[in-house]
Amino acid sequence: MSVYDLLISIIIQTMIIVQQKIHLKQMLIILLIMLVLVITIVIGWLIIIVMNNKEMECDERELKKMDWWENAVVYEVYLRSFKDSDGDGIGDIKGLTSKLQYFVDAGVNVIWLTPIFSSPMEDFGYDVSDFYSIHYEYGTMEDLEDLIEKAHELGVKVLLDFVCNHASIASQYFRLSEGRSPGYEDYFVWADPRSDPNNESNRLVPSNWISEFGGSIWEWSDKRQQYYLHQFSRTQADFNFRNHSVRKELQNILKFWLEKGVDGFRIDALPHFFEGTLEDEGKYPDEPLSGDVTASPFEIKYTDRRYTKDLFEVYDVVYEWREFVDQWQKDNGAETKILLAEAYTNITNTMLYYGDERNRSGVHFPFNFDFINKLSDMSSARDYVYVVNHWMSYLPYGRVANWVLGNHDNSRMATRFGTNMVDGLNALTMMLPGVPCYYQGDEIGMENGHIPWEDTKDIRALRLGNEDNYEKYTRDPARTPFHWDNSTSAGFSRNVSTWLSVSQEYRWNNLEAQVKADKSHFKVFQALTKLRKEPALSHGNYHLEAMTAHSLLLIRYLDNYDSYALVFNVGKVDDEVDLARVKLMKMPAVVYMCSVHSERRDGDIIPSGRILLKPGEALILKSLRK
Ligand code: NOJ
Ligand code: MG
Repeated sequence: MSVYDLLISIIIQTMIIVQQKIHLKQMLIILLIMLVLVITIVIGWLIIIVMNNKEMECDERELKKMDWWENAVVYEVYLRSFKDSDGDGIGDIKGLTSKLQYFVDAGVNVIWLTPIFSSPMEDFGYDVSDFYSIHYEYGTMEDLEDLIEKAHELGVKVLLDFVCNHASIASQYFRLSEGRSPGYEDYFVWADPRSDPNNESNRLVPSNWISEFGGSIWEWSDKRQQYYLHQFSRTQADFNFRNHSVRKELQNILKFWLEKGVDGFRIDALPHFFEGTLEDEGKYPDEPLSGDVTASPFEIKYTDRRYTKDLFEVYDVVYEWREFVDQWQKDNGAETKILLAEAYTNITNTMLYYGDERNRSGVHFPFNFDFINKLSDMSSARDYVYVVNHWMSYLPYGRVANWVLGNHDNSRMATRFGTNMVDGLNALTMMLPGVPCYYQGDEIGMENGHIPWEDTKDIRALRLGNEDNYEKYTRDPARTPFHWDNSTSAGFSRNVSTWLSVSQEYRWNNLEAQVKADKSHFKVFQALTKLRKEPALSHGNYHLEAMTAHSLLLIRYLDNYDSYALVFNVGKVDDEVDLARVKLMKMPAVVYMCSVHSERRDGDIIPSGRILLKPGEALILKSLRK
């Protein structure tokens, strides 16, 4: 009854009383009671309104506004294999620009481009010869400017690869340094030979340090009559980070690309920035031997890397760059510019890239490679829970987590885990708190291509491998061209011949087919990027547990909002789970989305209790708010 109705009824009652000629005193008492009643109702009503407003305010406060990158979906574009526009069989910037709408359709809002700078391409762009220009096979500076402009119009951010641990020996920096030009003498890490006590005329390498791509880290320069250090191939000379001019120049490079409008950088090879220094006797210290009997003296595993990896001075550089980038952003009234770090190292070292505990910030996030390094098709649900919790327990307060399923240096996700795991893995990484990072092709479940030894292009395989064992080292299979459709060269290029041959898998697995299909990996991916916008996922809490050895359950929930759960059988056998035993699970739930090989349908009602999951089956369930 509304206040208005109540007043009317009071007046009517009064009139009836008057009619009945009730004693005035009695009437007054009745009126008084009515008045108290009305006042109580009005006050109660006001209290409810105020409380409701408070609750809404509370929700608004909880749903803190996020910066553009905090709930992003990051996608690595391996440019050379993404889309070729000019028919030379090599992906290029114009090709990428022609496909920008694809990211919008997929729900991807950040793309990271592998190196686009001038390079002899021995390590496909990770050997930069000119940090300020675009590699001719990829296009021109105008092409890049056009790409950035168009991407921004579509709401897609563009990150570049900052390959700053080393420069190509074809770079001007190296030439000047090798020639001892003033100002460049110490641009790289130069060292005299170690003398051979048994033979004075013999030249020995300065230390026993080994490079990532095999063999000594030291390479002799005839011109300079000294060794230079290279953590990767001998064509990638390491900058001397202890040289102030180098540090300054690297900042100039960052500034140059920021001015071009890029939204941030993925920083390459951070744990390799510093090496040990000369000891008292003027010698570089040798690394202790690892004792790994499977390693040849040529391989990096042969030694324990005490002097060539994870030296702590790197954090000063990273924190310095963060300050620089933040300052640039402020000075230019720009949006946040982000830094992401590539650092394969232990969890403590990884977390320090975020910043220290004394309020110095580093990168926005260092990549979390645990899904690559610690999980495989042999992992149980308990392994998954353990690996996720491990990362989350070390994550410093207030920092944003991230989950990487693949990249151009590792075997493809669908190959490592099996194709029936694609949707579940995409769902898990999209639904965990933080930012998921995908490698091109993960969204359609692309598998490794096959590149025979005689066509091998990867310098790592060429240096470390031979015809019999190159597959252990080669990164080519993960780099074959993207499958757009089933036309010539998978729609990647109009040329039948491409820099790495297209995998034959494109005939049955390509984007066009997946867009047309009722159910596909791509459709699941699309639904997931949409789902990430739900408050329970962007702002909510999470609960992760192994229901059995095979199946895991992830619940994302937030007061007053719908909650979502993922049940995922990561095992190789059918598995039954009992959802009723998890208190947080609000049942019955509705299937929001399921993996392509699941027999369930979107919208199916899942009653409380036991459900059977096939190997790799993943269900995303929605529980309505009560
Ligand atoms: C990491 C890159 O991802 C890889 O492709 C490259 O070979 C090394 N860094 C050296 O730059
Ligand atoms: Mg091309």
